Amino acid sequence: TDLSRIRNFSIVAHIDHGKSTLADRLIQETNTVASRDMKEQLLDSMDIERERGITIKANTVRIEFTAEDGQDYVLNLIDTPGHVDFAYEVSRSMRAVEGSLLVVDSTQGVEAQTLANVYQAIDADHEIVPVLNKIDLPASEPERVAEQIEDVIGIDATDALLVSAKTGEGIRETLQAIVDKLPAPAGDPDAPLKAMLVDSWYDAYLGVIVLIRVVDGKLKKGERVKFLSNGTVHHVDRIGVFRPAMTAVDELGPGEIGFLTASIKQVRDTRVGDTITHEKGGTTDALPGFAPSQPVVFCGLFPVDSAQFEDLRDAIEKLALNDASFSHEVESSAALGFGFRCGFLGLLHLEVIRDRLEREYDIDLITTAPSVVYHIHMRTKEGEAPEIIELHNPADMPDLTHVDHVEEPRIKATILVPDEYLGDVLKLCQDRRGIQLDLTYAGPRAMVVYDLPLNEVVFDFYDRLKSVTKGYASFDYQMIGYREDYLVKMQVLVNEEPVDALSMMVHRDRAETRGRAMVEKLKELIPRHMFKIPIQAAIGGRVVARETLSAMRKDVTAKCYGGDATRKKKLLEKQKAGKKKMRQFGKVEIPQSAFINALKMD
Ligand code: GTP
Repeated sequence: TDLSRIRNFSIVAHIDHGKSTLADRLIQETNTVASRDMKEQLLDSMDIERERGITIKANTVRIEFTAEDGQDYVLNLIDTPGHVDFAYEVSRSMRAVEGSLLVVDSTQGVEAQTLANVYQAIDADHEIVPVLNKIDLPASEPERVAEQIEDVIGIDATDALLVSAKTGEGIRETLQAIVDKLPAPAGDPDAPLKAMLVDSWYDAYLGVIVLIRVVDGKLKKGERVKFLSNGTVHHVDRIGVFRPAMTAVDELGPGEIGFLTASIKQVRDTRVGDTITHEKGGTTDALPGFAPSQPVVFCGLFPVDSAQFEDLRDAIEKLALNDASFSHEVESSAALGFGFRCGFLGLLHLEVIRDRLEREYDIDLITTAPSVVYHIHMRTKEGEAPEIIELHNPADMPDLTHVDHVEEPRIKATILVPDEYLGDVLKLCQDRRGIQLDLTYAGPRAMVVYDLPLNEVVFDFYDRLKSVTKGYASFDYQMIGYREDYLVKMQVLVNEEPVDALSMMVHRDRAETRGRAMVEKLKELIPRHMFKIPIQAAIGGRVVARETLSAMRKDVTAKCYGGDATRKKKLLEKQKAGKKKMRQFGKVEIPQSAFINALKMD
């Protein structure tokens, strides 16, 4: 295809502002798929994505559009994930295109994710076309939102498109604006092949499918290509484009976006951001800024029924084949038996994987407290090389006498919140050891930027934020690096037995409070037994908090958990659902739900 007739773009938006609906409408308007084949939200292919209404895997579609000048254009849309966990994937797909539609819900305005994603687009030198969506709604305020886009983001919104992805209004204008406003890609068809690996995923029939953006040169079926990051060579057995169904083509030239298959068995063998060239006469000049995403949140996944360990292993290995950013290794715990220590890009990623294991593979799981990766600087003698351990599991924390200091990961969090909730948000961030970096106003809302320890955010920060702001706050973050702080391992002992799954790293100044909260919670969550059960939180050998669960009296409702009646009933039903939801710790049985609930902070 003639380069001047190609436009490559992505859509950036906050969750629920209408990205998928708009993409569907663009596809429909250009008859890329026959209407009767049009499933809602075509781009979100996985069930979980659809159910949660979020987009996880980058996806792409090629649209053909006849513009006002009578010429046919090829418009390639790359769908980017909207969630912070997948920031690296977003940044890669952004580098594969020249422009973005910035979709903002005209009844809502700019949100934290809009900002985070639009900054990525600006970083990638995109031309940005603002789209004000949902103008069919009575609450739509396009002028106010356009002004806000100019004030907060600093881009011109005078020509912002007025769109209803629901009714189809403004859709042709949007397609025309893509042609008029976005630049055609540059690239040299005669130069050695240089293509970017934008994404890859596993397909049961075709093996690994690699999404590529050709920068220079041409790729044909049957050629041998090399991946520059690891020097591996592959025979290309198929190339094509997505319309959105996979359609074979003879060649892919500069500016084009398409896929290749090459009998690659594992997604792990492909790295997002890698440079692909020909084996012979290829380029040696790699595309800039290649850095694979690293897991930042770790937790243990154990089968409730230890007989399911092998099933869990199979399932995890299958999922890992298709997700290079998910790491796993076998872990054994005195309390929970055999399971896996798994690494994730963030909490959502963790939840998605856990859900898939439970639903698609039908495995009941115990999930231990999520933890971040700490850098443990060991005490060394004069002249010895420094020794730094990456701690993925609080249970493995070395004895304090060998530790010089501990560093933890910090994030820069951006929160947008209506003024009336600002106080609560500041308090929440302060309580989580945050350092305020910025506070500005964007219309009736405040934008606060905090430097926060990731470990204070991984568990329930997002839930708390939603609840103190009645759902009106939006939140986004990025990692900023490691910093030393006074962190210690807190252990929980139930009936004198340490429960590894509940070990956690805490700030020393908060250890008593956290320990107290933890043992009080556990007292509620653990059912009474025929004997007294001490529940303790300890640092090193020192107990910092203690509760005693008294023994059951014969005449009391035997399974009394305390709390209100409906909750009691629910717990009872859960317990009935099977002994399998309970774990044995020495002489004590602890319900599985206690692990997660104990770690939530009020
Ligand atoms: P994620 O994929 O979760 O990031 O969300 P999204 O940005 O893709 O939003 P989605 O397209 O799923 O739209 C969110 C909701 O807004 C859905 O219920 C849509 O039906 C609705 N919606 C999208 N566009 C419009 C519109 O123009 N008008 C109205 N009234 N509703 C719309």
